[in-house]
Amino acid sequence: MSTLLEVSGVSVSFDGFKAINNLSFQIGPAEMRAIIGPNGAGKTTFMDIVTGKTRPDEGRVLWGDKSVSLLKMSEAQIAQAGVGRKFQRPTVFEDQSVFDNLLLALKKDRGPFAVLAYRQSARDAEKVAELAAEIGLSDQLSRKSGELSHGQKQWLEIGMLLAQDPQLLLVDEPAAGMTLEEREHTTTILVEAAKTRAVVVVEHDMEFVRRLNCKVTVLHEGAVLAEGSLDHVTKNQDVIDVYLGR
Ligand SMILES: Nc1ncnc2c1ncn2[C@@H]1O[C@H](COP(=O)(O)OP(=O)(O)OP(=O)(O)O)[C@@H](O)[C@H]1O
Ligand SMILES: [Mg+2]
Repeated sequence: MSTLLEVSGVSVSFDGFKAINNLSFQIGPAEMRAIIGPNGAGKTTFMDIVTGKTRPDEGRVLWGDKSVSLLKMSEAQIAQAGVGRKFQRPTVFEDQSVFDNLLLALKKDRGPFAVLAYRQSARDAEKVAELAAEIGLSDQLSRKSGELSHGQKQWLEIGMLLAQDPQLLLVDEPAAGMTLEEREHTTTILVEAAKTRAVVVVEHDMEFVRRLNCKVTVLHEGAVLAEGSLDHVTKNQDVIDVYLGR
């Protein structure tokens, strides 16, 4: 299997505390992966490292067919290279409509071809409609984004990330604060998105993880404790001891 993202021997310390400790694992293209583990295991820090927000003290983070190092790239360059990240607090423009938010995300500078793309407005409207359908907001396009429910704002944010067509989408605790129905819809969106790109989801909600129906990586003290199907890792005694049995 080819590899999209390879994290190898990565460590990072904060004030002498090793938040990530010789972490190694790989993500394949168009793979859905869940990352679970106790508070402070290093899940968010892993995403910070991949996106260039935090620089590791040691190790390698390699990206794509050509295995380029993400560690030499700026946050903007990493985003440009195809890594999208969803933050917990949505960053939608509340005063703008759903349509305009998606359109803006679509037109966000993508390099030398952005000027050419700017002229294709009919195609843009079509693309916005496609994105809205993907996130289940087709009937909300003219609504002011500030009026959306918490869940709808999260979906809009996912749509805005998908507008940039990332090869890897990192999502940190998407289910937080959502109703069961909203969580189920979020699963559907992410599963669909993972058909054409890699999606890595950090989540504490085990029902949510179960619905993702994917390989699970368990982090503990900044390293991989277990990996495999959810059934496999939840039977692992170490995983029960440090996480599930709390
Ligand atoms: N910028 C930072 N400065 C100092 N310490 C940090 C920083 N970022 C993370 N840490 C510490 O590193 C450890 C790992 O934190 P991280 O946020 O990655 O955990 P997590 O697995 O995402 O936990 P949670 O499930 O609670 O979100 C924690 O002890 C945290 O306090
Ligand atoms: Mg976290």
